[in-house]
Amino acid sequence: MITIAISKGRMQDDALALLSKAGVRLSPASLASRRLALPDETGEYRFIFVKPADVPVYVEHGIADCGIVGRDVLLESEADVLLPLDLGIARCRIVVAALDPKVITRSFGMLRIATKYVRIASEHFGARGIPVEIIPLSGSVELAPTLGLSDAIVDLVETGQTLKENGLCVVEVIRESTGLLVLNRASYQLKAGDVTRLTNALNCAIEGATAA
Ligand code: PRP
Repeated sequence: MITIAISKGRMQDDALALLSKAGVRLSPASLASRRLALPDETGEYRFIFVKPADVPVYVEHGIADCGIVGRDVLLESEADVLLPLDLGIARCRIVVAALDPKVITRSFGMLRIATKYVRIASEHFGARGIPVEIIPLSGSVELAPTLGLSDAIVDLVETGQTLKENGLCVVEVIRESTGLLVLNRASYQLKAGDVTRLTNALNCAIEGATAA
């Protein structure tokens, strides 16, 4: 049996839809259930539903053979996992945003950056030699500049609606983020046949989705 860790939340529906196209499906009863570990219809796969940041942890430790997680989460994680496939789902951007589009050039001294992405933000500003104070938050980050907690934020943008409704604009795009398939290193060796079958099926499902 292959265990697949799925990020709960924004990525979940797209991940399940793509897996379904690849022939790996939950029954309607399982889809309606609140259980967090469920077998697929064939019994060959097991799904576990975990917080996005925990997907790389379960995969690195081999509890899950593979997982579906956003690049944003993986960049923030220190997990040692293989990354065989970009699934192209849940496409969004990791950006610097602020009330003032020129916040970076107008700032003197330390720029205060509120974010869930401490590592991505530190590396981004570090590489550009811009001194920043990172203020770690765990959500609703768009509030921080409006309430004076920070000068800017580093966060995900999908539709741009949350930024817009909170009076913020994109200052710069750090990079694109999409859903990725990540693999446990040992599973890649020990379950090579099953893992290859799954990645091939996902590849076909992605190509089908692109062609449609
Ligand atoms: C993400 C992100 C933004 C929002 C962007 O938050 O942090 O707040 O989605 O989406 P939009 O561009 O389509 O408006 P999420 O829903 O993951 O919740 P969070 O507040 O816990 O980060």
